[in-house]
Amino acid sequence: MDDQQAIKEAVGRYVAEMVEDGTTLGLGTGSTAACAIEAIGRRLQSGELRVEGVATSFAAERLARKWRIPLTSLDEVPELDLAFDGADEVDRDLNLIKGRGAAHTREKVVAAAAARFVVLVDSSKQVGALGSRMPLPVEVLPMAVAPVGRRLEKLGASVVLRQGINKDGPVVTDQGFWILDARFEPIVDAERLDRELNAIPGVLGHGLFVGMATDVLIGRSTDSIDHLRR
Ligand code: 5RP
Repeated sequence: MDDQQAIKEAVGRYVAEMVEDGTTLGLGTGSTAACAIEAIGRRLQSGELRVEGVATSFAAERLARKWRIPLTSLDEVPELDLAFDGADEVDRDLNLIKGRGAAHTREKVVAAAAARFVVLVDSSKQVGALGSRMPLPVEVLPMAVAPVGRRLEKLGASVVLRQGINKDGPVVTDQGFWILDARFEPIVDAERLDRELNAIPGVLGHGLFVGMATDVLIGRSTDSIDHLRR
């Protein structure tokens, strides 16, 4: 097993140990969140834990079913005890870029419904300024892709419509929307950009998570995990 995968598994086990019996969870998307879902599933199957989860994507839903984690929704459960998820970048203020897996809109809805939002990363995801490694994913209504793209360019980004792999044409999200990847290199004022993006008609959601993470777990090696708290 490569080191990075072993670190993701260690971080997944760490957050699984933070989960208390009888609680409701937000189940994140991506390879690190998948390790956490597996670790929680194993605790469930050993009989030491009962939980219910809200999935942030079709992928998370399928994994939860595989590990027999009972699923619920935000209709039934207005507040979750703890949501966990991966991230693509984390800055010093614990603000994030998410959305490599195009699940950031649901991920943000679920994180916002949780009393605690725990972010799971390895040290390669730490950045001085958001946007230095990754473009910012923006989920858009397909008929609004051109005007939204122009608005993003006016904000200083270079913009690319994300293309499918093993599918011709654009990536279509779980909601049937498209993704514009906006490269800012870097983002100077994340709070301001968050407000500006939220105000663009046709934007369903974007991958900037400002002031949302309560905890960030940074895996440095399999036996060294930093637990940062807001
Ligand atoms: C999906 C996400 C993921 O959580 C993020 O891309 C991190 O994934 P990984 O743990 O595989 O690096 O935001 O939309």
